Amino acid sequence: MKSRTLRILLSAGVLVGASHANSLFAESSHDAWLRYAPIGETAREKYASLPIAVVVIGDSPILGTAQGELLRGIGSMLGRTPRAEKGPPREKAIVLGTIASIQAIEPGFRGRSSQDEEGFWLTTQQIHGFQCLIVAAMTDRGVLHGVFALLAKMAQNKDVAALDEVQNPYARLRWVDQWDNLDGGIERGYGGRSIFFEEGHVRTDLTRVREYARLLASIGVNGCAINNVNADPRLLKEDFLPQLARIADAFREWGIQIAISIDLSSPKTIGGLDTFDPLDPRLIQWWREKANAIYQRIPDFGGFVVKADSEGRPGPSVYGRTPADAANVIARALKPHSGIVFYRAFVYDHHLNWKDPKADRARAAYDIFNPLDGKFDDNVVIQIKHGPIDFQAREPVSPLFGGLQKTNVAMELQITQEYTGQQRHLCFLPSMWKEVLDFDLHLGRDGTFIKEVIAGKMLRRSTGGFVGVANVGTDESWLGHPLAMANLYGFGRLAWNPDLSAKTIAEEWTRLTFGNDSAVVSAVTEMQVNSWKIYESYTGPLGLQTLTDILGSHYGPGVESSEQNGWGQWHRADHDGVGMDRTVATGTGYAGQYPSPVAKQYEALESTPDELLLFFHHVPYTHALKSGKTVIQSIFDAHYEGAERAAQYVQQWESLKGHIDDQRYADILARLEYQAGHAIVWRDAVCNWFFRASGIPDERRRVGVYPDRVEAEAMQLQVYSTVDVVPIENASGGKAIECLQPQGCTASFRFTRGAGQYEIDVVYFDQNNGTSSYRVLVGDQVVDEWRANGTFPARKIGGDSSMRRRIRGLTLRQGDEIRIVGIPDGEEHAPLDYVEIHGLSR
Ligand code: GCU
Repeated sequence: MKSRTLRILLSAGVLVGASHANSLFAESSHDAWLRYAPIGETAREKYASLPIAVVVIGDSPILGTAQGELLRGIGSMLGRTPRAEKGPPREKAIVLGTIASIQAIEPGFRGRSSQDEEGFWLTTQQIHGFQCLIVAAMTDRGVLHGVFALLAKMAQNKDVAALDEVQNPYARLRWVDQWDNLDGGIERGYGGRSIFFEEGHVRTDLTRVREYARLLASIGVNGCAINNVNADPRLLKEDFLPQLARIADAFREWGIQIAISIDLSSPKTIGGLDTFDPLDPRLIQWWREKANAIYQRIPDFGGFVVKADSEGRPGPSVYGRTPADAANVIARALKPHSGIVFYRAFVYDHHLNWKDPKADRARAAYDIFNPLDGKFDDNVVIQIKHGPIDFQAREPVSPLFGGLQKTNVAMELQITQEYTGQQRHLCFLPSMWKEVLDFDLHLGRDGTFIKEVIAGKMLRRSTGGFVGVANVGTDESWLGHPLAMANLYGFGRLAWNPDLSAKTIAEEWTRLTFGNDSAVVSAVTEMQVNSWKIYESYTGPLGLQTLTDILGSHYGPGVESSEQNGWGQWHRADHDGVGMDRTVATGTGYAGQYPSPVAKQYEALESTPDELLLFFHHVPYTHALKSGKTVIQSIFDAHYEGAERAAQYVQQWESLKGHIDDQRYADILARLEYQAGHAIVWRDAVCNWFFRASGIPDERRRVGVYPDRVEAEAMQLQVYSTVDVVPIENASGGKAIECLQPQGCTASFRFTRGAGQYEIDVVYFDQNNGTSSYRVLVGDQVVDEWRANGTFPARKIGGDSSMRRRIRGLTLRQGDEIRIVGIPDGEEHAPLDYVEIHGLSR
């Protein structure tokens, strides 16, 4: 039975008597936080007097969308069929309209003066003598936002009987970027294929685009740039414009504008010119004509996103011109149409000299853009990543937010978890974003918070705000992990109101996504809220950034990958110490880019917070932190604690069995179990690397000491052969075994401990270029078998492909033979790392 049908039956009271109705049916993650699940009997009483008529005043498409959404939401949550009506109410009603249109039928109706264009007012007043619940706004978009707010209240079982509430968005720009390619792939996307493009063109069926627009509108997002910042010039071709227009139409119903990313060399590559020098008059003309052509088809087009002089993308530096020269030429072409240029400050040299102690990628954005402050046109927005490097699990805020006082800025946040676990690890980013937004830049006085700077409030700029790189895809759950949707939700909520706490956002999201069962709300909220720091602690704490493989997937551990190359994500760990000296006195001078009180804080070792210590200072491993621990011990401890806490997610989630529908319960459980195993891979790789580099052992004798482990290479091998793993710390003992015999190979060992109940972890490697099979036997009895059919970003053995299979509740006796049979497939040779056996009293 389809979940929706079942919900209707439940809401109509047809099915009764189940203590946890949820467990009766399977729910997909597709509806995300817009499920409109039936409200339980008791809470439903609150809405008994809610009018049945939903009256819209006006007939714009967005008002139509708003009315449709309200009907859908109320119908689904309350199990009644509300009536859609137009014009003045003829009975008590829910009334939707702009303030002006309501005044036209009820002259006494007064709007609230503080109302912003996109804000709304929920109120209860008389219209035509009938008591009405009114969703009023300055614009149709505002009405739509108000409708979503009203529905969210009901979904959280909040009272709506006597509302009088005004909400206005904090910032004007609340955009998402999608890094989608025309071939249907998504750069740094972990939720399937593009919902926009396939095989070089826009998809025929744009249903998912409409659904995405609805999700975005519900959290107040008002724009979407639809293609990769590493832009394909074909999007600007004449014959592509009708296709873009179709996407714009889909978004328009939900009040959302679109923009596209452009390649600055397009006038040359597709435009028939022999130059893309921004100051060449032909260029000005070219962009003007291009903009005119776009606006003819898409009158509400948002503008262009520009990535230039960055990671090999062409830019104005080719002609000795500045980003301001380039941005302004395009801005002037867009200006007559009210379009915006989002010029990204992610401009840096990726061929830096690692041997130069003064070289520093973190300095680049400020060095390049600060001298240009005031030179950008007023429809240019400098889009600045929140930190100076690149969406690491921890970075200080970008000093450029203080370095552009006469220029519009927006903060770029990354919703897709490129460096934060790629939606395979739980990592609730609003916790991190809150710290960034609430950071006091001390711009001439205390209390100058980044959120005010980016919204243009503090420095009174014409526009500004938030851009979130979302990268949703065709996956049923949009981002690939149902719990990761809290990041998209949280992004929108913070862009709307950055004063919300991370906890409030997590709780709202949980209620909307899983319902109001208090056990679920408290467990999931807690898991979400703690997850960023947990992820950070097992992937590189103390400001080490994320110690991932920066030359490849950006996923698994790769501690050394950032060193000895020009990318500049260095941590400069060697035998004696670790950290990057960015002080003015002895280092790269980066610390001096902040306004004075902040610069002073980071310049001194003593006042730099522990969590950023190694971002700003190079210290010996024995340096004592504020906690009293040495740096090295703190690295060890953080990784062990982090992995333990990741393991606890599994128990926390298991406590919710029966409180959540079976399908989402099982799906998320499997992901959390994977994460718990992969956190151990991270822990061991990082700890062993630092142990080897420093030569200092773990005081608690955990690193390198694994009494419960049997290394695969130490087992009795039949046909399996031993291989060295590179980097060495990404497999236990630095080695693994592989089977090159198509019929299969066997690795076995004898169990030497006392009889009892045990749990066995088989740690193997699941590459994406084959589907090996594994079978585990105790004596002659098969106790488990499975196929390695994961889709990890890995074609070889290592930290990206490492995977754990847990076999629970096994009775073992001393002397039992444990055998693992591996059958290779394709280029995946049934690789095996180790087996770890835990007594069940653990
Ligand atoms: C990161 C990411 C790239 C992306 C770039 C950007 O470096 O790995 O894939 O293109 O950021 O933001 O431009």
